[in-house]
Amino acid sequence: MSFLQRLLVVIAVAVLLFGVLMIFSFDIIKIDWVSFMEIQPSFKPMEHPLPVAARSIPIEGAAYIPGQGAPSNPVPADPVSVERGRILYSVTCIQCHGPKADGNGVIGGALMFQPANLTGDVVQNKPDGALFLTISNGIQGTGGQIHMPALNENLTVRDRWDVVNYIRTLKATVTATPTSTTTAATTATPTPKP
Ligand code: HEC
Repeated sequence: MSFLQRLLVVIAVAVLLFGVLMIFSFDIIKIDWVSFMEIQPSFKPMEHPLPVAARSIPIEGAAYIPGQGAPSNPVPADPVSVERGRILYSVTCIQCHGPKADGNGVIGGALMFQPANLTGDVVQNKPDGALFLTISNGIQGTGGQIHMPALNENLTVRDRWDVVNYIRTLKATVTATPTSTTTAATTATPTPKP
């Protein structure tokens, strides 16, 4: 073997050894590689909601036309809708607005802004469409702080109207018993009308 051939063999063996070594040191050296999952860009739920593409048409039809005021409620408040609303409320709203919808949810107290009492007159005197817009767009303070997150990504248009129909039943139960003894217990446990 010439010197050159021997050199080539040595290099080949060295490369092979290095390659085998790298297989085992791969997890020790920890070189970030583009395909590693933890360094890929990702979005957490509700983080930077993507805007709807321009000129796109919602498959459910337009929920409302911006600038044209609150929409009217197209979903009749039948037992099915109210029951759907009750279930959706217990998934999407209860953490903040509480099981009694009085604004005392589990995390409600930890928020900078106290969630509204949904059984009270302030909310109940608003038209269905206003509640729908609140659920859809959330509530933003003048300083840009989010008081209540927009839930249009969590609830379909139909879902939102169901929740509105359910919220209406909370008032009905609370004010249905003003003549009798309106104790704290009766006002505190608004059960949805069937
Ligand atoms: C992250 C907590 C949070 C969640 C979840 C949440 N809300 Fe709210 N909501 C708030 C807070 C806080 C306010 C009061 C904001 C303020 O006073 O500026 C509020 C206010 C409201 C109001 C009163 C609006 C008004 O104009 O008086 C309505 C109605 C309402 N929420 C409905 C809902 C419904 C329905 C859901 C579920 C679909 C929901 N919210 C989910 C925190 C939340």
